Amino acid sequence: MKSSQVKLKVRNPNFVYGDVPRHWILDNPYVTHFVNSMHVVFPEGEKFFIRSVRRFLKDVKDPALKANIRAFCGQEGVHAKEHENFWEVMRAQGLKPDSFGEFMNTVFFVKEYSVENLVFNIFNKISPRLGDKMVLSTAGPNIMVAILAKAVFEENFPFSPISI
Ligand SMILES: [Fe+2]
Repeated sequence: MKSSQVKLKVRNPNFVYGDVPRHWILDNPYVTHFVNSMHVVFPEGEKFFIRSVRRFLKDVKDPALKANIRAFCGQEGVHAKEHENFWEVMRAQGLKPDSFGEFMNTVFFVKEYSVENLVFNIFNKISPRLGDKMVLSTAGPNIMVAILAKAVFEENFPFSPISI
């Protein structure tokens, strides 16, 4: 099956968190804060995936594939928004997601000397678009996240702080 035979559809779930216990995963602080940290790192990571894919959009001729790339970008935007929405829960618990998020952005994304920009710039100097392709390949872990999400939402995972 060609990727252009699959039609991606953007889903916008609008999660409602309500009153979330401080250690919302199995009452375990370690697991909870590990996942909390993902909520902080992922928003810019999702935007990073969008930037990575968009660099190739102008090269794609197949309209169906182009539509799927746009839908992928839309879906990643929704993911970023939902992760950022959880920051409000963390703020209410006295946590500081904003400063940690800013640190992650400075080191890994967006900023002039971030890992993202260094990879783009260094590898693109070695070979045209090599950096673009290297960064695009990092979108692969998104598949693992999709598998985890399926486990959490469809397999009666033992914890979930949300209701849809
Ligand atoms: Fe995502």
